[in-house]
Amino acid sequence: MRVTIVVLLLVHYALSLNNGLVRTPPMGWLAWERYRCNTNCAQFPDDCIGEKLFMRMADRLVSDGWRDVGYEYVNIDDCWPSRERDANGRLVGNSTRFPSGIKALADYVHSKGLKLGIYSDCGKLTCGGYIASGGNEKIDAETFAAWGVDMLKYDGCYSNETSRKVNYPLMGAELNKTGRPIVYSCSWPAYEGGLPPKVNYTELNAICNLWRNYGDIQDSWDDVVDIMNWWGDNQDVLIPAAGPGGWNDPDMLIGGDYTLSLDQTKTQFGMWAMLAAPLFMSNDLSKLEPDIKTVLQNRDVIAVNQDVLGVQGRRFIKQDSIQVFSKPLDKGEFAVAAFSTRTDGTPHAIKFSLNDLKISGAKFYSLFDLFESKHLGKYSTAEELDIYVDPNGISMFRASPISVENIFVEEVFETII
Ligand SMILES: *[C@@H]1O[C@H](CO)[C@@H](O)[C@H](O)[C@H]1NC(C)=O
Ligand SMILES: *[C@@H]1O[C@H](CO)[C@@H](O)[C@H](O)[C@H]1NC(C)=O
Ligand SMILES: *[C@@H]1O[C@H](CO)[C@@H](O)[C@H](O)[C@H]1NC(C)=O
Ligand SMILES: *[C@@H]1O[C@H](CO)[C@@H](O)[C@H](O)[C@H]1NC(C)=O
Repeated sequence: MRVTIVVLLLVHYALSLNNGLVRTPPMGWLAWERYRCNTNCAQFPDDCIGEKLFMRMADRLVSDGWRDVGYEYVNIDDCWPSRERDANGRLVGNSTRFPSGIKALADYVHSKGLKLGIYSDCGKLTCGGYIASGGNEKIDAETFAAWGVDMLKYDGCYSNETSRKVNYPLMGAELNKTGRPIVYSCSWPAYEGGLPPKVNYTELNAICNLWRNYGDIQDSWDDVVDIMNWWGDNQDVLIPAAGPGGWNDPDMLIGGDYTLSLDQTKTQFGMWAMLAAPLFMSNDLSKLEPDIKTVLQNRDVIAVNQDVLGVQGRRFIKQDSIQVFSKPLDKGEFAVAAFSTRTDGTPHAIKFSLNDLKISGAKFYSLFDLFESKHLGKYSTAEELDIYVDPNGISMFRASPISVENIFVEEVFETII
């Protein structure tokens, strides 16, 4: 198993975009799912797409401890540009909503120890009908770099299959030529159905740092489930595509918005960690319930996402509306998550052994529950586990190998206490 993983990683290293960025999945905050194209600042002065919103979120990322657990990017999405390019043909931010300009916003975000992301589109217009970068990749990449932008999400509205083959690589090349390290997020595969033969993940890996494979997430549990199912059903294509420097992106975290319950928030967050997904929250950080914040700041779950191997988790079991995934971690550890889409109102048992998840390498593993923060005990790989999963919930643990000596020490220790 170890040998296989190492080989897969080497293959990925050889192919991924060589800009040294996002060796673990990027984390941060992104405006789209929660704030959309709200440009009505008269009615929504705090929430319209403008510098106030992004400064407010940057402040929150710092004051509420998000930056300290890894959330680093503050990302603008659609609807930020002015309707016209300037006299030099450059993009500019809408001057009533970004009166200080994007450069000043980048400076502000950097002063907080955070990074700024921006958005454009490889067609003539963005999805929201704003000016886009198709055909202007060079000047726009230079503008983003001059502003001090750290990440670009490149969308695909108003493009076609032929133009995307030209414009996605072109923007990547122009970003590289600026000399500024800029994380490149491509929506390309989402516009091609996300699967081969239309999507060439080898090629994508050479061009982009992350890519949206599938449709936009909405504020909906059904959407979260649909995305998790698609990731499980297509894992043989998706797992080899992901690794340090290049990530599959199932879209934003929606915990703290209008829809998900606390258990559903845990489920999305835990599963996104298992899938080595970029962790971009799209919510109002000033309105989060404390228990939602606790979930999204869970350092043990974040550590699963940020593990240095960067291996995407694999689904091994799908039965009784429960799915069990396992993700290899550094130092011979594994993360395991069982999530439920059941609605029968009570925790449901699912029985499996570590062997069923192809976890091997040691005879015994010690299990630690990542959401309950408690030790579950020590199990041989053949032993049956009895894991209970709440309806629309998740059980997630880390399995750490125990060497024979450690087992002895532990048993002595258990005897003493
Ligand atoms: C800036 O955005 C406002 C809406 O907030 C809009 O009315 C105005 O026309 C935009 N200005 C430009 C120059 O695009
Ligand atoms: C695709 O888009 C390009 C660039 O906008 C355009 O020149 C071309 O005619 C389009 N091709 C098709 C088949 O629509
Ligand atoms: C540009 O690409 C080269 C070759 O892949 C790489 O070594 C370099 O780090 C890249 N530079 C930036 C700024 O992305
Ligand atoms: C995918 O892209 C790679 C790199 O550009 C290329 O070598 C390979 O032939 C492509 N695969 C297919 C099936 O087109």
